[in-house]
Amino acid sequence: MRPKILVTREVFDETLDFLARHCEVESNQGDLALDPAALAIRLADKQALMCALTDRVDARLVAAAPQLKVVANIAVGYNNIDLAACTARGIIVTNTPGVLDDSTADLAWALILGTARRVTELERRVRAGEWTGWRLKQWLGVDVHHATLGIYGMGRIGQAIAKRAAGFDMKVIYHNRNRVDADLERRLNARFVGREELLRGADFLVLQMPYSPGTHHLIGAAELSLMKPTAILVNSTRGGVVDDAALVDALEGGVIRAAGLDVFEGEPKLNPRFLALDNVVLLPHIGSSTEATRRAMAMTAARNAVAALSGEVPPNIVNSR
Ligand code: GLV
Repeated sequence: MRPKILVTREVFDETLDFLARHCEVESNQGDLALDPAALAIRLADKQALMCALTDRVDARLVAAAPQLKVVANIAVGYNNIDLAACTARGIIVTNTPGVLDDSTADLAWALILGTARRVTELERRVRAGEWTGWRLKQWLGVDVHHATLGIYGMGRIGQAIAKRAAGFDMKVIYHNRNRVDADLERRLNARFVGREELLRGADFLVLQMPYSPGTHHLIGAAELSLMKPTAILVNSTRGGVVDDAALVDALEGGVIRAAGLDVFEGEPKLNPRFLALDNVVLLPHIGSSTEATRRAMAMTAARNAVAALSGEVPPNIVNSR
């Protein structure tokens, strides 16, 4: 009997074609996010789940899916999945590392440049007819070139962000759970610093650590107060690593200059006080959202699922059985 897979969100035709060669596919191509009860019902007779970060795979869902063998997340982050519950049941969990590093790094750079030069704020002003002529001191931004880039989280994406800094002649400092090897530091021209030195030293602080209970509200009022009043914070990783209420206070009070945000606590809802601020660029979690990258992510997840169903160890397993 062919194994059954549930695909919870809309994917690409080639992803479904590939899956259909190996499994019986039930897919939610209407793309309405399934609520936990609907997800549990659909998963009850499936051996595989291909899901997105909008799906919560918790202990309850796992208990409701007695045949489940693999959860293939279409994301590099997997904080939507209760890894311990899956591991306890011998369920393989996979993610999609590598294929999205460059696109996500590009987006972090869009936020760096967009906040520094006030791109979205000024575009809004042009559309609103506020531009009446050139002035020397008009809508001044800050320089990115030769500034200090601080990267908090030097995994693959952090490294791709650091690499791009060379073209802007920036000084790069970073903090990470583990220091990266000396050769990589040399290639990235990046200096390892303590957490406090990173917060105090960065002109642009980019957050790129995974979200977990340990990184919840890693940046709150105390951390923001250590940053330069001219500093810009970029969160292109996960909502929840920043205390958004504290960030709004800091942006309103001039504790830091600006923020570029692709992710929010409780997204797609966001703190409504952000909307009133000009010194913030707000994007709808599009870090990896280019056509090529999203296609690659979906195929990576599909290959992981099929490998696990075939009894192989999938390339991107994140738990051990
Ligand atoms: C996107 O946010 C991802 O984790 O892939």
